[in-house]
Amino acid sequence: MKLGVRRGASTESETVTTAGNAGPRHVAIIMDGNGRWAKAHGLPRVEGHRRGVEAVRRTVAAARELGIEAVTIYSFSSENWTRPAAEISELMSLMKRFIRSDLKKLHEHNIRVRVIGERHPSDVEMQSLLEEAEGLTRDNSGLKLTVAFNYGARNEMLRATRKLAAEVAAGRLDADAISEEHVAGALDTADLPPLDLMIRTSGEQRLSNFLLWQAAYAELVFLPVLWPDFDRSSLEQALSEYARRDRRFGGICQTEL
Ligand code: IPE
Ligand code: IPE
Ligand code: MG
Repeated sequence: MKLGVRRGASTESETVTTAGNAGPRHVAIIMDGNGRWAKAHGLPRVEGHRRGVEAVRRTVAAARELGIEAVTIYSFSSENWTRPAAEISELMSLMKRFIRSDLKKLHEHNIRVRVIGERHPSDVEMQSLLEEAEGLTRDNSGLKLTVAFNYGARNEMLRATRKLAAEVAAGRLDADAISEEHVAGALDTADLPPLDLMIRTSGEQRLSNFLLWQAAYAELVFLPVLWPDFDRSSLEQALSEYARRDRRFGGICQTEL
């Protein structure tokens, strides 16, 4: 059966063959393998990160054309601070340069940009760029592009717990009444659709502290491609794999009903 991947699919290559699942509403990507890509090409790691930005541009364009509602990308984890200072500094400047160079175009494409994770009050320049990106695109109704930056799922759950605890302490919420919806609503992803598909590149098969609560029933697709080589066909490959999966959510197979 051929099934378009939601809104906007217009050419043949924008169609994936599927056994049943409609296209995912929300796709998360662990963009991994920049360092290995650089090594394989005899280049410094930083060159892998630079090429990785190109892959982000390609992916955002493809996701938009394929009509995916939300894409959440892991760009810097709370554990990435353990890397050498020079690499961290390059990753910070790449993020700033990306916002400076691409924000206008993202806005023109009606993309809503949001950044999740812990904000670093010490980097005032970064703070204001992130706020500018979110502020400018706040009311856009197209692709919801969320960048996980200085993000860790355990830290996100910790911050959510503190928010709920403060509500309880203030007498606005009864501890026994706390539901899964309250927890989900206190997470950084509160306004995003449920996570359907999690892609990780580079062949690693772990979540590395990304969207742990949200991934409870997401389909996981691990691709061998290194992130700087990721392109529209890699995304389509992941979507085809997703379409073949039987999502049971603890129930039984659709054909057995
Ligand atoms: C992903 O590529 C980018 C970030 C984590 C910032 P890596 O830098 O982790 O590349 P590998 O895993 O060393 O190849
Ligand atoms: C996860 O990749 C973080 C990002 C892609 C930003 P890492 O390369 O940091 O993860 P590990 O260390 O291999 O688990
Ligand atoms: Mg890595």
